[in-house]
Amino acid sequence: MRFTLNGAPAEVGAHPMRRLLDVLREECGLTGTKEGCGEGECGACTVLVDGEPVCACLVPFAQVADAEVTTIEGLGGDHPLQRAFASLGGAQCGICTPGMIMMATKLPPNSTLDDVRAGLAGNLCRCTGYEAIYRAVLEAAAETAEAPA
Ligand code: FES
Ligand code: FES
Repeated sequence: MRFTLNGAPAEVGAHPMRRLLDVLREECGLTGTKEGCGEGECGACTVLVDGEPVCACLVPFAQVADAEVTTIEGLGGDHPLQRAFASLGGAQCGICTPGMIMMATKLPPNSTLDDVRAGLAGNLCRCTGYEAIYRAVLEAAAETAEAPA
């Protein structure tokens, strides 16, 4: 099946009912997307499909035919959110981190703490309080807002 993966054309032969999460990790070698609950409850497996966040553990592979899938690897490693999470200690075990970051890419650049809390309400972290995560997202949002257009 053909789709676009992190900006490049991809063709993967996997059963249409396999979970997108498993296809990404096992067929495509993109292990940045993590599994937490496996039931759509924790947001750890969040990726973007045609720009919208989805839980990859709930999406059958068939559903991304001809779609554009973006995983944490697609952000390239130097995205403001990735830098802020690293520098402000937003990750502990890191299981929730890729999902948090993918969800946070959808927050507007000038997000307030309330926006961040609401935007990430579906992403659960088992390791820590959420303060470092929120600080990292706010710093990245501020950086993005200041960046020249
Ligand atoms: S692993 Fe997909 S929502 Fe928890
Ligand atoms: S850092 Fe471990 S679950 Fe969030």
